[in-house]
Amino acid sequence: MIYFRSDYSLGAQPKVLDAISKTNMAHTDGYGEDVFSYECADLIKKLIDKPEANIHFMVGGTPTNTITIAAALKPYEGVISPDAGHIYVHETGSVEAHGHRVFAAPTPDGKLTPEAIEKVLLHHEDEHTVIPKMVYITHPTENGGIYTKAEMSAISQLCKEKGLYLYMDGARLGTALACADSDLTLKDIANLVDAFYIGGTKLGALFGEALVILKDEINDHFRYMVKRACALLAKGRLISIQLKALLEGESDPLDLESSLYMQLSKHENNLAKKLAEGLTKKGYELWLPQVTNQVFLILDNTIIEKLEKDFFFYTWCKYDETRSVIRLVTNWNSKEEEIQAILNAL
Ligand SMILES: Cc1ncc(COP(=O)(O)O)c(C=O)c1O
Repeated sequence: MIYFRSDYSLGAQPKVLDAISKTNMAHTDGYGEDVFSYECADLIKKLIDKPEANIHFMVGGTPTNTITIAAALKPYEGVISPDAGHIYVHETGSVEAHGHRVFAAPTPDGKLTPEAIEKVLLHHEDEHTVIPKMVYITHPTENGGIYTKAEMSAISQLCKEKGLYLYMDGARLGTALACADSDLTLKDIANLVDAFYIGGTKLGALFGEALVILKDEINDHFRYMVKRACALLAKGRLISIQLKALLEGESDPLDLESSLYMQLSKHENNLAKKLAEGLTKKGYELWLPQVTNQVFLILDNTIIEKLEKDFFFYTWCKYDETRSVIRLVTNWNSKEEEIQAILNAL
């Protein structure tokens, strides 16, 4: 069976595992208050040029999203998400379970725009309706697309004008940053949003994400929020050790471009590109253009059934009566032969 299911189906990239092994016998304080977590937080602050940022090492994407949103919002406030957004579609109502409405803004491709945000704002009238107070976006989007600097700046500008917090889910942030067409840097992101996270789980870590909070009111008592949500890991250092191994540049720690994180991301994007090009050459139809490491392909249901015998992937959604969209995701260890194998099978 060849896996195109997701980018978290493997364990850790060996250099990440090495970093855990090397530090294994060290005694430290717990819950992220240890030398490794301080070092990694310091590295991230330098990478974004924000010494005042607050960094929290989180276990996974859902707790990061849910707790950050809950920490930012008052009980009568909600968050605007693209209709394809992970918090709206794939987190089992976790944000709602923490007491906050998720407003789904209609988008053609999962990418939020100032216009779509404004449409949601129109529906708020008075104390009889929930106040939209935060905007949630993913970069890359749920469908693998990316925001340009101009697009992000426009969203950020609107959020500032309307008094909305802007939060970016970066579960696959590396693949967006490594994308050849991207003009949005990590530093730009830190300048444009109020909070974002650098995802590790899907990019070479065993698990873990680095959350960056840039607004003091979101950070207020944040560790209490994490603990109360049962997500403050006693061995929190395991996350920061992994993130440091991923984010540190090869010769200069601050050269993000040469980091393992960016190398793995580029590898994933390159192979996804080869896959998308191969499919198009064979006459197959993509649902959306391939941009990062996710390829969405429209296939006859009968072909999907046959393909499932040797390949493991998600059937994403129905396309019409006889066809569906499948999602093929490359991972940091994907091989050219695997790409060729699925192209040959098709
Ligand atoms: C964009 C995005 N955000 C958040 C998550 C949730 O992460 P986790 O499964 O670690 O809770 C995922 C997982 O697929 C994701 O794709």
